[in-house]
Amino acid sequence: MTATVNDGTLAVLDGQRFAAMVGARANALPAACVETLAAANLGYEILLGSEREEQLLRALHGSEAGDLRVSGPHRADDWERGWNENLREFEAADGEPLMLVPKYNGHRVLRLAGDYVRVDHPGFEYAVYTALRHWYFRRYFTDVQRVVELGCGTGTSLMLLAGIFPRLHLCGLDWAESSQRILQQLAQRSGRAITGKHFDMFAPNDALELGRGTGVLTSAALEQIGDRYEPLLERLLAGNPAICVHIEPLRELYDEGSLFDDVARRYHHRRNYLRGFLPRLQQLEREGRIEILEQRRTGLGSFFHEGYGVVVWRPLGSRGNA
Ligand SMILES: C[S@@+](CC[C@H](N)C(=O)[O-])C[C@H]1O[C@@H](n2cnc3c(N)ncnc32)[C@H](O)[C@@H]1O
Repeated sequence: MTATVNDGTLAVLDGQRFAAMVGARANALPAACVETLAAANLGYEILLGSEREEQLLRALHGSEAGDLRVSGPHRADDWERGWNENLREFEAADGEPLMLVPKYNGHRVLRLAGDYVRVDHPGFEYAVYTALRHWYFRRYFTDVQRVVELGCGTGTSLMLLAGIFPRLHLCGLDWAESSQRILQQLAQRSGRAITGKHFDMFAPNDALELGRGTGVLTSAALEQIGDRYEPLLERLLAGNPAICVHIEPLRELYDEGSLFDDVARRYHHRRNYLRGFLPRLQQLEREGRIEILEQRRTGLGSFFHEGYGVVVWRPLGSRGNA
């Protein structure tokens, strides 16, 4: 998983390297992926030797910090406050989409292809995340009529989808009401069919409407529910959507024998992020209830862990429903 470099330890995340992250050939990338990568400053330096050790230690100490926020039902107010802040800034900037980018992006040292890298620009992680979404949305949502995003936050993925698929109906679910207020504004300003609904993934209810022609998306959202995904999974199975795409930290994709991965796994554990979800899907596949279409470690991470693992599946009952 080590990146090849152009000049010593300096490199640029170009189409070729991005394609390797998603297991594709560079000439298969859609124009929007290529344009997203080209428009961003994606230069970086691979940190080796003592610099790598320094980052390993920093990550280890960071994941042991006493004030680390642990995910769970008690965090609802934090998200409410966070998205409220984005909403106020979005309004003050007359609907400038950049104001909806979550503030937790922007680390200068990231995990990339098995290395710590120092990126030239704080927009690196978000730009590559956006290119990943362009790739996966085109790959898996082309044939659906509607996408439901769980834990949609400020709606940046819904707006990307709206741009790619002009006729797609979009629904964003989140337990933060400020998310629904943002989506209301996005719908008004864009004139697109985007609805926001209040929904708690810990206690899923009828707000989650699925069925024929619906694609489900989660992105850095299931991570927040630790090992309490079973009620939601049951709802997804019962709702028989066409396809489910998850861009999430998948702890089971880390390499057991690697120190670099061990520090990320420790952090994941301390934050009480998603665990057991991928093995549960694999079990459902063995039972013949679902088909896993892709599971992938893209190799992109923020500083502490890799939040951009991908698993895509569909209930077997949904064949041909899209
Ligand atoms: C890390 S943010 C990701 C937001 C968005 N998916 C994105 O990629 O920008 C996690 C989101 O999950 C939402 N969330 C966390 N726990 C939730 C729960 N139990 N039910 C519904 N939403 C939840 C938060 O409010 C927040 O919007």
